Amino acid sequence: MTTVPVNLSERSYAIEIGTDNLSELGAHVRRWAKATHAVIITDEHVEQPHAMAAASSLSTAGCAVDLLVIEPGESSKNIDSASFLWDKLLEVGADRKSLIVAVGGGVIGDLAGFVAASFTRGLAFVQVPTTLLAQVDSSVGGKVGVNLAGGKNMVGAFWQPVGVLIDTSVLDTLPEREYRAGLAEVVKYGVILDADFFEYLEKHTAELADRDAEVLQKVIARCCELKAQVVAADERELTGQRAVLNYGHTFCHALETITGYGEYLHGEAVSIGMLCASRLSERLGRVDHKFTQRQKKLLKALKLPVEFPEVDEEALLAAMSHDKKVEHGKLRFVLPTRMGHVELVGDVASADVRAALHGK
Ligand code: NAD
Ligand code: GLY
Repeated sequence: MTTVPVNLSERSYAIEIGTDNLSELGAHVRRWAKATHAVIITDEHVEQPHAMAAASSLSTAGCAVDLLVIEPGESSKNIDSASFLWDKLLEVGADRKSLIVAVGGGVIGDLAGFVAASFTRGLAFVQVPTTLLAQVDSSVGGKVGVNLAGGKNMVGAFWQPVGVLIDTSVLDTLPEREYRAGLAEVVKYGVILDADFFEYLEKHTAELADRDAEVLQKVIARCCELKAQVVAADERELTGQRAVLNYGHTFCHALETITGYGEYLHGEAVSIGMLCASRLSERLGRVDHKFTQRQKKLLKALKLPVEFPEVDEEALLAAMSHDKKVEHGKLRFVLPTRMGHVELVGDVASADVRAALHGK
């Protein structure tokens, strides 16, 4: 069992990481919030057994529990789902003292967090991430929101959870493709912040493929520590420090948008996007070709996609122009300079961006 603190003065909270610890949710929630009414938001794949286990733990701890279930997948992360959930919250009698508990992957965490941030101008919420991606990234840091048809994560808020409970054993039911997608965000942390961690991943690809419990615990805890440090330094992405977490994401979000939020899993698009950003960095003379190849080798070993597909480049560039790092109409990219270090770089020529899409 590991506890990682997220230090944000009065918005500070703990990430509790363990194995088979979902049954402890109720006890944690009693410490984190005074709520006697909890509304679990989940999706159809997670409802059984994980959301039901969460409900049982909350009931045992003395909470009245309601369960709201939405359709799984990125295409549910929109304002229609939020509106459905707002109506349901009214129906079940939620008030300002109710607690939202997001039990699911990043889609549920982002959507439920957004609903929590907005219903009655803000309810406390807890994250119980059930995908690897959500355990290492999306459940921490308080970015919540929904997609627009024309832009990923375009509507949302910064709304921190009051606590995060990570049970690595819930990953046992996670489909292989989803699990692999989560590994892309894991690799991201190595490239942007921790060269030793990247090397550790290179040495443990077999254990990662086998979901080795010890390696997973270590990897999840390290990613949470790194994310917590970044979020504590720049909670609202004002100084550029938090923007480093978006390595590869300008390409990734544009790819997800123009392919209709269905073709690529977010983590898969992150894998492809990181290599584009690395090639862009090469073109700008910041890293050499070997640097990109090293990432590609690791991503391939983890069975992640590495090639940018043939797409309508005009549509892609247009989607990129909605990136939230755009400043005064100019795209900015998170680009590596060495393993474990990236910088936010502005004024990149679109010819270089196009050229970085494909490569060996
Ligand atoms: P997801 O929430 O769609 O979950 C992936 C799939 O796995 C879904 O079908 C889900 O039903 C299923 N699932 C979840 N847990 C399961 C389990 N334990 N067993 C069986 N099936 C399970 O996708 P994701 O990859 O977790 O999250 C992607 C989303 O996260 C994207 O929308 C992305 O933008 C967002 N994100 C947000 C942040 C942030 O900081 N807020 C960071 C990274 C990503
Ligand atoms: N995943 C990007 C962030 O949390 O800032």
